[in-house]
Amino acid sequence: MSDRKKVTLNSLIKKVTEGTPITMLTCYDFPTAYFQDEAEIDMILVGDSLGMTMLGYDSTLPVTMEDMIRHTQAVRRGAPYTWLIGDMPYMTYQPSVESAIRNAGRFMAEASCDAIKLEGGAEMADRMRGIVAAGIPAMGHLGLTPQSASALGGFRVQGKGALQAKKIIDDAKSLEQAGAFSILFEMIPERLMKIITDRMETCFSISLGSGLHAHGQLLIYHDMFGLYPKFKPRMAKVFAEAGKVILDGLKQYAKEVEEGTFPQPENWFTMSDEEFDELQKLLD
Ligand code: KIV
Repeated sequence: MSDRKKVTLNSLIKKVTEGTPITMLTCYDFPTAYFQDEAEIDMILVGDSLGMTMLGYDSTLPVTMEDMIRHTQAVRRGAPYTWLIGDMPYMTYQPSVESAIRNAGRFMAEASCDAIKLEGGAEMADRMRGIVAAGIPAMGHLGLTPQSASALGGFRVQGKGALQAKKIIDDAKSLEQAGAFSILFEMIPERLMKIITDRMETCFSISLGSGLHAHGQLLIYHDMFGLYPKFKPRMAKVFAEAGKVILDGLKQYAKEVEEGTFPQPENWFTMSDEEFDELQKLLD
């Protein structure tokens, strides 16, 4: 039996206290979850970005709770050791504290999540407080919050101006005081990221495109492997061109089938001469 231990909130906090950055990736399916778990990634976010990366929508807004639960269950089956976070989809927590608690509860009960994530600042602090009071660890999400992309003027860096930066600092404090165990900061300037991380007392920061001064880093899995065909965000480092490898493999498959060089004997199954003769007799 393996002596590997499941990641817990305590083990995450221990890592932060020791000054080792937390690793976090998005994930939406069983085989990828298996690899991420094997690589001992600390935290997996089943993001509502699956609306774009897996379902081909232009935004995250059409994603439903049912979509999220189905994908999160698959990820949990592949990643039993990782700290698993379910991303609350659009309009499953904004309408009321009660809707927020009920839907957060679904992630925990139906998909065996360890925590949930929701977008928004001070205006969502009561939802955060309610979820945490229900015994569910919750992560905040500030900066570029894709569910509000229209109101934010598109997918762009947030907090470049002093006033907007101050609002993000205040929002982070509100979420921390509401009990968030962690806050994700997407596309804010790295100097702002440092101020916020330095001021954190009871929760830890995760950066997505916001620089090094956070307690951990997140990348979108499809961006880090060149798997999203529509665009490549500047903040994403491509660690391996898996998309290109797959495309080359597909072209090679089509070529070999058309040329008659695939399949080969090692790819098919045989039948004994006796059984084959018997079959011939049965057909005569
Ligand atoms: O849905 C998602 O993957 C996210 C990331 C963009 C942080 O919320």
